Amino acid sequence: MSHTFTVSLVCWHDGEPLLKSVRQAVFIDEQGISPELEWDGLDESCRHALVLSSQGEAIGCGRMLADGHIGRIAVLPAWRHRKVGTAVVEALLSHARAQGYPAVDVDAQLHAVPFYKTFGFEEEGETFLDAGLPHIKMRLKLSE
Ligand SMILES: CC(C)(COP(=O)(O)OP(=O)(O)OC[C@H]1O[C@@H](n2cnc3c(N)ncnc32)[C@H](O)[C@@H]1OP(=O)(O)O)[C@@H](O)C(=O)NCCC(=O)NCCS
Repeated sequence: MSHTFTVSLVCWHDGEPLLKSVRQAVFIDEQGISPELEWDGLDESCRHALVLSSQGEAIGCGRMLADGHIGRIAVLPAWRHRKVGTAVVEALLSHARAQGYPAVDVDAQLHAVPFYKTFGFEEEGETFLDAGLPHIKMRLKLSE
């Protein structure tokens, strides 16, 4: 298997089937999140990052709301620890800088805190449950 991939920013209209395939596999099938919570009606108003393998398979994704909140960062299990998630977050941070957002925040699943720390995100407040999973808010300042 070739391990090369490309990341691009897409709107929901253009990326929906591919974005859905990754999120279905990771959040619904792997993590057990309910479809009602996963498909929350916010996708059409988001900018999405989509990662494709050199074979054209969708392998990673993420989204950013208009208020600078990122989420739904997912990488297929077979592709983890190859910097696909890093490429997703970097694409979304580039978008945030281009939009002039002063900061970006994420409701991080606890196991993913070390991942977000690699970009400089810092934890804020207490842990909380969302979709039955422990989370904590993390924030990255983009400008002073
Ligand atoms: C979290 C997730 C997106 C990371 O994607 P990934 O492509 O494997 O991450 P990367 O390869 O870009 O990792 C970059 C760095 O983040 C850190 N990191 C990534 N996954 C980690 C883990 N499970 N535990 C600890 N640190 C981790 C490491 O420092 C890593 O660098 P290294 O591999 O050189 O040590 C992926 O594990 C995933 O899809 N998990 C399931 C869905 C999920 O929980 N999403 C987050 C919701 S908030």
